[in-house]
Amino acid sequence: MKFFIDTANIDQIKEAHDLGILDGVTTNPSLMAKEGISGKESVFAHYKKICEIVDGDVSAEVISTDFDGMIREANELVKIHPRIVVKIPMIKDGVKAIKYLTGKGIKTNCTLVFSPGQAILAAKAGATYISPFLGRLDDISFDGMELIAQLRLIFDNYGFTTQILAASIRHPIHIIKCAEIGADVATCPLSSILALLNHPLTDIGLEKFLADHKASQKTEKVKV
Ligand code: G3P
Repeated sequence: MKFFIDTANIDQIKEAHDLGILDGVTTNPSLMAKEGISGKESVFAHYKKICEIVDGDVSAEVISTDFDGMIREANELVKIHPRIVVKIPMIKDGVKAIKYLTGKGIKTNCTLVFSPGQAILAAKAGATYISPFLGRLDDISFDGMELIAQLRLIFDNYGFTTQILAASIRHPIHIIKCAEIGADVATCPLSSILALLNHPLTDIGLEKFLADHKASQKTEKVKV
C-alpha cells in the first residue's frame, strides 16, 4: 500500500518524506486555506514547492464545477510540474472531465467519493485514483471501511486499474484496516502515520536493552 500525506503543510510533508516512506501528497482547497495560501500565483507556487520535495504524485484540486472550467484549470495545473495529478470532484461534469483528461494522458484523482456507484462511474471514466472519504462516512454513522471493501471487490471483479486512494483517514486503525482490505493508497495526516510507530512493548523493550547494555559496560570497566 502506498502512503500519501494529506496536507499542504510544508514542514509536515518534509517530515514524512525524511522518514523515507512517502509516496505522494494530496491537498484540497480547505488544506491550502489552512496554510493561509490564497491567490492563484501563491497556490501554484505552493504546489511547485510540494512537488520539489516528494518523488510521487501530488494531487491539486480544481475549483471550477463546470466541464470547461475544470479542463481549463487542469491544463494550467499540469504545467506546474509533471507530478501533478488533477483532483476533480465527483459530479456529472467531473465525470466528463475525467474521461476527457484521461484521453489526453492527464492523471486524475476523483474526490468526494462516498458510494460504490460514484466509484464505478469514476473508474469507467478512467480516473487514475478515486478518493473515498472514510472518516466523513464514519462521522454520519456509515461504515467508511465497508465502502473500501466494496470498491476493492468491484474493481477486482472487472479489472479496473483505477487506484483506491483511501482518504479522510483519522487514526492508525483506519490505515491498518485499509491495508487488510487492499486499498492501493492511504492518504493520511502526519499524526496518523507517526501513530503507527507506537507500541508500549517496543518502548519497554528498548529501555531494557539500553539499561542492560549500560550495566554490561560498567561490569567491563570493573574487570579492567
Ligand atoms: O483527502 C481528503 C481529506 O482531506 C478529508 O479529510 O478529515 O477533512 O474529512 P477530512
